[in-house]
Amino acid sequence: MRAVRSDGRPLQIEALHTRYGRVQVLRGVHLQVRAGELLLVLGRNGSGRSTLFKALMGLIPATGSARLDGRELLALPAHHRARLGLGYVPEQREIFPRLSVRQNLLLGAKPALTGPGASPWNETTVLSLFPALTPRLGVSAQVLSGGEQQMLAIARALMGNPDLLLLDEPTEGLAPQRVAATADLVARLRSLGLGLLVVEQKPWARALADRVVVLGDGRVQFEGPPRDLPRDASATWL
Ligand SMILES: Nc1ncnc2c1ncn2[C@@H]1O[C@H](COP(=O)(O)OP(=O)(O)OP(=O)(O)O)[C@@H](O)[C@H]1O
Ligand SMILES: [Mg+2]
Repeated sequence: MRAVRSDGRPLQIEALHTRYGRVQVLRGVHLQVRAGELLLVLGRNGSGRSTLFKALMGLIPATGSARLDGRELLALPAHHRARLGLGYVPEQREIFPRLSVRQNLLLGAKPALTGPGASPWNETTVLSLFPALTPRLGVSAQVLSGGEQQMLAIARALMGNPDLLLLDEPTEGLAPQRVAATADLVARLRSLGLGLLVVEQKPWARALADRVVVLGDGRVQFEGPPRDLPRDASATWL
């Protein structure tokens, strides 16, 4: 692949609240993703990690503030947020099963900027990260294996040339070899300058993370480098 760089941009989240009906899930989340860093979001099942991502993407309503490079996101419709530079790989991957692999990829495409700081991703550069998808471009996405679907979901998000990529449990349900390949890929993306906000409980993510936040009781219970995470399993929010 060409040595192309993204320009990571900071995300500042303040007092973020979300609810499903009467049930409050996030109760004032404050966190910051610095430009080009990998921030890992930990928390127990049901702690609101996916909810945080859905709120950022505009898939569920939220109050408070989320500013990408100073631009407030919460007032914007979902498609506009993607155009501003947020990429999203949902927990369920949500590829379109009846469309071909290529059609799925092109659905995510945003024309790359040109000139200094140009956005790097197009069909050619994305497929160079996932060569296994090339012979599959013409097939219907529903015949892909779980590992191939995960590649397609990440590839589709990159086609939008994000500055910040949200990955929700990207290695859930995958074989160890694919988990390791994903860890290598994530490290590579960060080295290219892309910011990453990652929900992942597996050890590879702690090994790569610049910083970690732990969600619990609807708030950030811990923020710091992975080495400062309490080892004490009795910490109720881990
Ligand atoms: N559409 C929904 N309607 C009502 N409640 C929901 C909905 N989606 C999630 N919840 C609830 O909100 C809480 C947070 O869910 P969320 O999916 O964000 O958790 P999570 O941290 O991603 O955990 P996991 O991925 O293990 O489920 C949970 O109690 C969940 O049951
Ligand atoms: Mg989840």
